[in-house]
Amino acid sequence: MLKYEITGGVRLKGKVRISGAKNAVLPILAATVLTQGKNIIRDVPHLKDVEVMIEVLKHLGAKVTFTGTVLEVDTTGLSVYEVPDDLMRKMRATVFLMGPLLGRFGKVRISQPGGCSIGPRPINFHIKGLKSLNTEFQEGHGYLLGESKSLVGNEIHLDFPSVGATENLMMGAVKAKGTTIIRNCAREPEIVDLQNFLNGIGARIRGAGTDMIKIDGVEKLQTIDYTVIPDRIETGTFMLATALTNGDVIIENTIPEHVEPLIAKLKEAGVEVGCNDDQIHVKGNGRLKALEVKTLPYPGYPTDLQPQIMTAMSVAEGTSIITETIFENRLKHAEELLRMGAAIRIEGHSAIINGMSKLYGAIVEASDLRAGAALVLAGLIAEGKTVIHGGEHIERGYEKIDEKIARLGGQINRIVE
Ligand code: UD1
Repeated sequence: MLKYEITGGVRLKGKVRISGAKNAVLPILAATVLTQGKNIIRDVPHLKDVEVMIEVLKHLGAKVTFTGTVLEVDTTGLSVYEVPDDLMRKMRATVFLMGPLLGRFGKVRISQPGGCSIGPRPINFHIKGLKSLNTEFQEGHGYLLGESKSLVGNEIHLDFPSVGATENLMMGAVKAKGTTIIRNCAREPEIVDLQNFLNGIGARIRGAGTDMIKIDGVEKLQTIDYTVIPDRIETGTFMLATALTNGDVIIENTIPEHVEPLIAKLKEAGVEVGCNDDQIHVKGNGRLKALEVKTLPYPGYPTDLQPQIMTAMSVAEGTSIITETIFENRLKHAEELLRMGAAIRIEGHSAIINGMSKLYGAIVEASDLRAGAALVLAGLIAEGKTVIHGGEHIERGYEKIDEKIARLGGQINRIVE
């Protein structure tokens, strides 16, 4: 068990370097399955989710070494097309292996992914899309077996621009015969990164970053040396931490364009934000002003930064409204913020937040990764000590968050029980 103890009240100051993007590296690691040989992936963050993906790759027969932030994945000896149940349960993103395993072996067996704390997360779009690429699926007790004699390109229209389905289908289509077109696809920066990776190994893909991706199937692929993009959600979390502690921080190794929706909101709330190449300078300007925020697929405001901005709005001047449109059940962190003195009312998919002058330290529980981040931010501004249980969730997606915050002056302790 892991917990964080935070004593609030410090203005964060200094410089922080952002790690490689969790949500970019996970599909990229899955995509190495399409290659046969040694790949080098750089700027890989040390995260629980990355560890799980490495475990899965090893189970499939890959040789993996992790030195510093460089991951070497040798896929020469891959021989298994099944993702075991215990690893699937640890991380839903193992579902990304369906497309690559079908591309490599024409077969994939996974267990049915269950729900998670932010609501049911079905994979119907993944399955429907892979079926239209000529895969047949059989459902057994708790597992799913996909088989394709030969993947064949097709036109796919997604019912919703799902990030994971777009990525899975891109990977499934790389070696399919003919051309695949994915319409109404997700436009997230991680999709562009995956396209760059796949084209680097010899795929022929265009359109990532728009709502239509076109993939011309190829037969042969090669290995690659690739550096992943910086994590825009970690970037945003540090931007919000700075803004709400009224701090002054230069955030390094970022792509400012990827956090444009947050920059716009912070400016609206009165925060000073300046960008210079790969740096973002955030400077608090007194109390934040209330905001209206609605989560949307990229380039809208990201759902993965919704809990953190809820913390910020808990102490803003005025009444804020935050509406979650991507996930069914992603407002649970409000309950924990209430324990810390926030005034939040949930109505349907919206949270109505009356900004208070302060929050107070309390014992709280991180129910998922981003909710955990929101509580860390709350701890940083609360009067007194906050204890956050469920720290394991936070470490699924934030590399050394305690050390990074401590270097900016924050008082935070990581305690393994
Ligand atoms: C990815 C991110 C996650 C982020 C989310 C939305 C990774 C590893 N995770 O998750 O951090 O919060 O995008 O930006 O990249 N849906 C279906 N059927 C499907 C697939 C999705 O109904 O087959 C629904 C989901 O339940 C959800 C919505 O579509 O309500 C969006 O999900 P999706 O974009 O697929 O998110 P993930 O890829 O799981």
